[in-house]
Amino acid sequence: MILLGLETSCDETAAGIVDDSRRILANRVTSQLAEHKPYGGVVPEIAARAHLDRLDDLIRLALEDAKIALADLTGIAATCGPGLIGGVMVGAMTGKAIAAVRKLPFIAVNHLEAHALTARLTHDVSFPYLLLLVSGGHCQLLLVKGVGDYRLLGTTIDDAAGECFDKGAKVLGLGYPGGPAVERAAAEGDPQVFDLPRPMLGRKGCDFSFSGLKTALRQKTEGRDRGSENTISDLAASLQTAIADILVDRTKNALDMLADENIKITALVAAGGVAANGVIRVRLTKLTGEDYGLPFVAPPADLCTDNGVMIAWAGLERLRLGLTNGLDSAARPRWALDDRKAMPADEAGRSA
Ligand code: KG4
Ligand code: ZN
Repeated sequence: MILLGLETSCDETAAGIVDDSRRILANRVTSQLAEHKPYGGVVPEIAARAHLDRLDDLIRLALEDAKIALADLTGIAATCGPGLIGGVMVGAMTGKAIAAVRKLPFIAVNHLEAHALTARLTHDVSFPYLLLLVSGGHCQLLLVKGVGDYRLLGTTIDDAAGECFDKGAKVLGLGYPGGPAVERAAAEGDPQVFDLPRPMLGRKGCDFSFSGLKTALRQKTEGRDRGSENTISDLAASLQTAIADILVDRTKNALDMLADENIKITALVAAGGVAANGVIRVRLTKLTGEDYGLPFVAPPADLCTDNGVMIAWAGLERLRLGLTNGLDSAARPRWALDDRKAMPADEAGRSA
């Protein structure tokens, strides 16, 4: 089986190709940073147009990388939500058009499910596992029981972890996207210098909150000692450590909750852009290894941030279970992972 996956739900245009031997045959990603930079955030209309301009070329380049033709594909997968609807429609329509012309099965992929399943492409991970999904738009703890079978354990009540990195970077004047910039600055800083709050820490349950952190960071930044060269890196290090503390505390609660219910998981898996953060990876490895004797698994950084390979892989996992979708399947701005009724899985067996 060889699958092409298309990703257009935010500001990355991507096309990836994988096969059922878990080989990545192509991984083409272009970012739209330059287009959105003047506006300080992603502008949906600009994103949709940029996806439209680039996607055809990216698909051609991905096929060249993989040294295959469209005729060699077993199926086409495209992100059909959740995300910025204009962009999602560009990827979905392109995928459906290729599927229709080549008479190939089409798989409507939930972007969050693609993040959730990536670790099964890069590592030997079997179900069930605990997933910490931390990206720019999402911050969730999920029990992954199988393809299309998820239980939401906790989510954010305000911002996502990536959003907190991005907004924090803006306050610190470090640019966009904030996560990598904060991580770089933090490497030079001392996390003990500034005392930032850790909302929800020590509370029951697995929900997250980050909005108080951004406000506190702004106050510390405005009141900072401008004479010190290290202040920005110290603030970045303090922010990164506060976010890591929150993620570790909430994940620990989820691990305890599953143990209380006698649910035996195989691993803690991290996914989404924030899972690319080295400090957070070290903290989660320590938590699972030392306290629970469980492996911590995270895909390599370039497969944590948005890419087409993860969409192709999710498509492959679905296709081998016979879960395909009709060409009338909708593009969705919102699409919860544990909402069975919202999963096109219930269109199982209906092939394009
Ligand atoms: O998964 P992703 O590429 O897109 C979404 O679906 O949101 O995640 C992007 C988010 C951004 O907020 C970005 O700042 C964050 O992931 N991110 C990081 C790092 N690399 C990306 N956050 C912390 N440390 C990083 N190294
Ligand atoms: Zn994502």
